[in-house]
Amino acid sequence: MKHLLPELPYAPDALAPGMSRETIEFHYGKHLQTYIDNLNRLIEGTPFADCSLDEIVRRADGAVFNNAAQTWNHTFFFLTLTPHQAPMPEKLAARLSEAFGSVENFLSEFTKAATGLFGSGWAWLTEDMDGRLSIVQTQNAGNPMTSGLTPLMTVDVWEHAYYIDYRNRRADYVAACLRLIDWEKVSGRLK
Ligand SMILES: [Fe+2]
Repeated sequence: MKHLLPELPYAPDALAPGMSRETIEFHYGKHLQTYIDNLNRLIEGTPFADCSLDEIVRRADGAVFNNAAQTWNHTFFFLTLTPHQAPMPEKLAARLSEAFGSVENFLSEFTKAATGLFGSGWAWLTEDMDGRLSIVQTQNAGNPMTSGLTPLMTVDVWEHAYYIDYRNRRADYVAACLRLIDWEKVSGRLK
């Protein structure tokens, strides 16, 4: 199957000033599009051509994995953002408090993981088979599904995600992302 650029549920300038139209144009419009184009080119004529994106991420390695996982991770990231952040649903707040002591503590631990990740990668909130929530860092294109974890939310901390708007200030970018997360979507992914 041919993989396509996902449609954003908001206008390209809707996330500003936290995430500018220019960042969306480059990060979503160019970086993500390139991963998708590479993936389509790499899987053509291989058994992966008939696989879902999830299957490719779970089974591939090398360049196919890198481009499939970057497609998956970016799609998940962009579709979890909203220009109209609503208060966190009680269900999610209760689960985060249970796992991390409080919602504030979760936000602080997540921020630490996202800002502290060395080099390029992703910070995630995940749920395991037993419903345990964790904060996970993955390097480069890494995706927690390959460790049997279910992703609930992620923040991209590759430099290309924040250099246009924040230059080297990754912490300011992470704080802005946390104001753009759609907590209702995150909550809806809980088992
Ligand atoms: Fe990215």
